[in-house]
Order: sequence, then C-alpha cells, then structure tokens
Amino acid sequence: MIWLLIHLIHYTGAKRRIRWDCFDCQMGTQYADQMNCHVGGIRRSLLNVELNLLEELDAIKVYVKISTRFKPTITYRKFFDINFNGCRVIADMVQGTMVSNMFNAVVKSSNQPRKCPIKKGVIYYNNISIEESLPMFVPSAQLFIQVDFYSRRELYLNVSLRGEITEK
Ligand SMILES: *[C@@H]1O[C@H](CO)[C@@H](O)[C@H](O)[C@H]1NC(C)=O
Ligand SMILES: *[C@@H]1O[C@H](CO)[C@@H](O)[C@H](O)[C@H]1NC(C)=O
Repeated sequence: MIWLLIHLIHYTGAKRRIRWDCFDCQMGTQYADQMNCHVGGIRRSLLNVELNLLEELDAIKVYVKISTRFKPTITYRKFFDINFNGCRVIADMVQGTMVSNMFNAVVKSSNQPRKCPIKKGVIYYNNISIEESLPMFVPSAQLFIQVDFYSRRELYLNVSLRGEITEK
C-alpha cells in the first residue's frame, strides 16, 4: 500500500511520454473500408485513424485491455481491463473521469458524431495524443493495448497498439 502511494505521488510529479511502435486496426469488411491506422509525430506519440463506415452503427460495446511488461524478454501480463457502452460514453459523458479524459483526447481532432447512431461515411481521428490523459496508475513500462468494438454480439473492429511509456 505504501509502495503504491509512493509510486502514485512519483507519477503525479513526473511528466511522461509515450512512443508507439505498432498500431494495427482490423475492421470487418462489411462494416468499413479504406481503414488506415498509423503513428505520427516526430516522437511517434500521435495516432491517426481514418475509415469509411459502410453501415450505420447504433450499438457500440467497447472492451479495453491494457497489458504491461517491464522488459522485452518477458511476456505481457494483463494490467487492467474495462468494458463500457460506447454510445453512453459519447452521449452522457461525466467530465473529469478517466474514461472522459481519454475520450476527449481521442475525439479532439475528429469528426466523430457525439451521439449514436454513428452514420455511414468517412470518420477520421487526427493526432490522438493520450500523454496528458494517461492515468497515473499506469506504470512506466512497455504497453500492449487491445481495444475491441462490438455491435450487439458481433465483433466489428479490433485495434492493437504497442508502445512504451517513459519518464521525461
Ligand atoms: C479480432 O481479433 C481476433 C483475435 O485476436 C480475431 O479472431 C478476429 O477475427 C478479429 N476481428 C476482426 C474484425 O478483425
Ligand atoms: C498532426 O500532426 C502533424 C505532425 O505533428 C502536423 O503536421 C499536422 O498538421 C497535424 N494535423 C492536425 C489536423 O492537427
């Protein structure tokens, strides 16, 4: 417990950086085409996504899993995971929570609608930077993030990200 507190205080004081090494997205071909996910910025800290949605989405369930490891030679271990209703998050977001901070970072330079259903057409997210909204409890380590989006029962989008958090 004391160890945890010391680390939380330590992380609050330190400004941290993220470098993304790998960013992959896969969307079912019936849902979207021209999907493009890539890393940008001189420090490789920015994420860009573009896709052409072929079908209206009226239910979005999101599962996020964050795994960490402290050395390249060991395997990733689950650090944290969360399920949430994507439509509820974009519609009645409680400001100041961890999910809302992350969400605001993602949609800052995006044309994503702020309520469901999400209509057909081109959707983009430019220069997503989560450095500022990174929760303090996520340790400085190598990260493996998986995000799965479901519409009702069906998985329609897989996102996977690998990167590293470092202290500045
Ligand atoms: C998502 O990933 C899982 C396994 O990691 C795979 O079985 C599934 O086909 C993928 N779905 C899409 C839409 O790419
Ligand atoms: C995104 O970042 C790149 C590199 O930092 C910059 O050149 C570009 O203008 C930015 N685009 C937007 C839409 O903010």
